[in-house]
Amino acid sequence: MVTKPSRVFFALWPDDATAKRLHRLGADAQAVCDGRRMRRDTLHLTLVFIGDVSPARLADLIAVGDRTAPATFALQLDRVGSWRHNGIVWAGMEHCPAPLSDLVDRLDAGLDKAGFAVERRTFTPHVTLLRNTRVPLQPAVVASIEWQVDGFVLLESRRTEAGAQYVPVRQWRVESGDRPNAA
Ligand code: 2AM
Repeated sequence: MVTKPSRVFFALWPDDATAKRLHRLGADAQAVCDGRRMRRDTLHLTLVFIGDVSPARLADLIAVGDRTAPATFALQLDRVGSWRHNGIVWAGMEHCPAPLSDLVDRLDAGLDKAGFAVERRTFTPHVTLLRNTRVPLQPAVVASIEWQVDGFVLLESRRTEAGAQYVPVRQWRVESGDRPNAA
């Protein structure tokens, strides 16, 4: 039987209101930088990029997610920046909150234990807003978005005629009763 690998990564997936704000910020940036704006339904923050995995390994990956406790924390997206080497404009933060780096560390440890040799870039938390920009970002584009995180997701990247589409494979969320301030 021929089985196709899936191209997957762990990520934070914004709620609708946060995605809307990020998308609007992308429009502000696009007005000065040109480039291709990411569709609202594709906006995310990558935690760990895995790459191509077979269906059997995908099950192992889900098991890694099952063993990694999700966390609630607030992300203050207070920076917009651009990278000249790849033409990306991104939203990010001045300080990576400890619960975010802790979540990435715990995923990394779980992946390591499960034998996933993940070759990774230094973790630079960001949401890609635009690609293929040609004009430098202007200081007038300002980010001020608070994102309440309550879990993480394993996303599969699929190529479609409309560009990349990210499909949730599995989602892990803090049970509402375990959230701070839960009634
Ligand atoms: P980018 O937006 O900065 O390009 C799906 O491609 C997601 O995985 C994107 O968030 C992308 O980051 C990220 N990604 C792609 N290849 C990667 C790699 N080799 N290492 C880390 N992240 C990667």
